[in-house]
Amino acid sequence: MSVRIHPSILSADFVNFERDFLTIANSDSIHVDVMDGHFVPNLTFGLPMVARMQEITPKPLDVHLMIENVDLLAERYSDTGAASVTFHAEASQDSVDLARRIRACGSKVGIAVKPGTSLDMILQTLDEFDMVLVMTVEPGFGGQPLIEDCLEKVAIARSAIDRAGLNVLLQVDGGIDDTNIARVASYGADTFVAGSSVFKSENRAARIDSLRELASHPLARH
Ligand code: DX5
Ligand code: ZN
Repeated sequence: MSVRIHPSILSADFVNFERDFLTIANSDSIHVDVMDGHFVPNLTFGLPMVARMQEITPKPLDVHLMIENVDLLAERYSDTGAASVTFHAEASQDSVDLARRIRACGSKVGIAVKPGTSLDMILQTLDEFDMVLVMTVEPGFGGQPLIEDCLEKVAIARSAIDRAGLNVLLQVDGGIDDTNIARVASYGADTFVAGSSVFKSENRAARIDSLRELASHPLARH
């Protein structure tokens, strides 16, 4: 299982994205947190910014939508050329229909669940998605500690993906750092979002490499 590290630019300098993107050139993808101030109690940026980011970096963009009205808006993020668009199960009225529409626009599609949301609402339709995102903090802010209780959901998602023989990435987002990534990997995650851990590091490229290395050697679970 190959490990992917996706730095979250929520912890980058919002008026120096171009400069900051260059510091994470060895990442696998750039995780772009779109927040509308309604679905989550924080506001970041919207379509014009994501479209512009696409122009200034050759890296794939992994867009994480934390917005209401996602059924109306998600395809437009795909139209910017985003490599993947992930939306929250809690925000969509018809996640299978939306997933199909996003794929038809040319992006991979992910489905995210907040810490309090059961995986039951997505496990039957995993084959409609390219990625499952198990949030390991309440979405909205960077720099929060990982919620340990979420890791059991990572294990459940891993079993469901493997049992069905699906080619679906399993992403975790929130509180991932060099002290816990090997343990989180042991629950079966393969795609790791890291915001503050990367951007607050003095050598971001080295931090990305070390996170990737640590996640490649999952610790035994007790
Ligand atoms: C939180 C965002 C995350 C956030 C993670 O709602 O979805 O992507 O930036 O930040 P850290 O890694 O600092 O917890
Ligand atoms: Zn995110």
